[in-house]
Amino acid sequence: MRVRAEAGLPIKKKTSILCAFSIEDTNVAIGLGKFNKKIDQTISQSLKEIKGKKGKIAIIHSHKEIPSERILIAGLGKKNKLTSDVIRDVVGNITKKIHELGIKEFTIITPEKISIKNDQVVSAIVEGANLSLYDFDLYKKEKSNKKEPDLTLLTSDKNAQKIIKNSITISDAVKFTRDVANLPPNECPPAKLGEIAKQIANQNKMKCTVFSKNEIKSKRLGGVTAVGQGSKNEPRFIILEYRNGKKEQKPILLVGKAVTFDTGGISLKPGEKMDEMKFDKCGGCTVLGVMKAISELKLPINVIAIVPSVENMPSGDAFRPGDIVKLFNGKTAEILNTDAEGRLILADGLAYGIKHFQPSSVMDFATLTGACIVALGTNVAGIVSNNTKLATKVKSSSAKTSEEVWELPINDDYMDMVKSKVADIRNLGMGRAAGTITAAAFLANAVGNVPWVHFDIAGTAWIQPSTKSKSYNSHGATGFGVRLVVDYLMNQK
Ligand code: BES
Ligand code: MN
Ligand code: ZN
Repeated sequence: MRVRAEAGLPIKKKTSILCAFSIEDTNVAIGLGKFNKKIDQTISQSLKEIKGKKGKIAIIHSHKEIPSERILIAGLGKKNKLTSDVIRDVVGNITKKIHELGIKEFTIITPEKISIKNDQVVSAIVEGANLSLYDFDLYKKEKSNKKEPDLTLLTSDKNAQKIIKNSITISDAVKFTRDVANLPPNECPPAKLGEIAKQIANQNKMKCTVFSKNEIKSKRLGGVTAVGQGSKNEPRFIILEYRNGKKEQKPILLVGKAVTFDTGGISLKPGEKMDEMKFDKCGGCTVLGVMKAISELKLPINVIAIVPSVENMPSGDAFRPGDIVKLFNGKTAEILNTDAEGRLILADGLAYGIKHFQPSSVMDFATLTGACIVALGTNVAGIVSNNTKLATKVKSSSAKTSEEVWELPINDDYMDMVKSKVADIRNLGMGRAAGTITAAAFLANAVGNVPWVHFDIAGTAWIQPSTKSKSYNSHGATGFGVRLVVDYLMNQK
């Protein structure tokens, strides 16, 4: 979407539709100002009708009384509930409405001097507009009308143009993550993810290495080997290196689970909703989206991404319950359920990245446990961390981007729950107790003392029936995590 900033008065603005916001029960359209008696009266009537309620929109035609053809007023809801996410959501609704009406260009009066910082308001407007028209129609003959309207932001903020540019880059990366995550499993085996990673690396001057099945095996990535061995679609181990910080600066490591389809393997999942397990690659897709964004933003940091990718299939070659496999970190893992595959490939990704790149901190992203949905639902991701300082920064980026997280605890008692009688660790906790934490405890064995935050995005990576509806999300993958992590990385030096 094309978005630009412009200083100037609403009364002088020649545009198809001039949009302003109204907070509940204020009867004011923020920043709209006065026009002439006739128009002002109509505006005032519309304001009274919608009462600033969130979700309500009024449109009036100006009949050539002013340069703008129409005025749109959108309710923002209650003042004490106003966040940047409300703006993101409302702008998404405005954009959809304008697209529906076939209007080719619109202007938003940036609400200034409200309780939210101006740069966050501008980002929220751009993200809401750019994400709301996303539709995954790659496999449909009848495409949705892809022509996006152009947006002008009226603002006096001198930094607005820069913020707009960054927000477009970030929300485009979210769309990229959705596009990859939405690919059906027959079209997106691990090899395809390797190709996609190479593409973004070439476009943005990153180094990309993709290990084949044999290389994975010879490098002793035993978890990836075991989970991947049951499928004809061979596993890949993807490494992206973005280096734009000081040479001596240790990199930040990002690891993402990319199971292109999770049948459960020999511990086969029930058939109901199994199709959704095409989204089991979302963690890896989030990491790829983050790498695309930060390399386009040219952030002055060093970041390594590792995406272990497999298809988890039952077959004569598949790994089995009872198997003992040796992970990259040298620890043996007793397999008690082949459906607990994510932790096996992630443990290898984490250990390999830590050994080869000595990162200062690590974050991993995975649709790891159904238990996370039971605990937190589908609007909040679970996080587990061994480092309070890092977790605090993550929570602050979460608050800014409204990609919600909730921290779950980890301690030695949970670590004990993944100890095995016949191997070093087991890939299953004790029954269903604390399923999200025991999965994280398995990963903690591969992480050691490096500051680490684990994101369980099982509930938030795609739209599920209980997902709160937001205008800037549409059915399918959400791209959860990209905005949060990019925000975090933008605040790193
Ligand atoms: N990919 C699933 C987790 C999942 C399930 C995410 C449903 C989103 C929706 C993961 O590989 C898995 O199967 N986990 C098992 C672990 C169990 C066997 C310990 C689970 O959650 O049931
Ligand atoms: Mn599974
Ligand atoms: Zn899985």
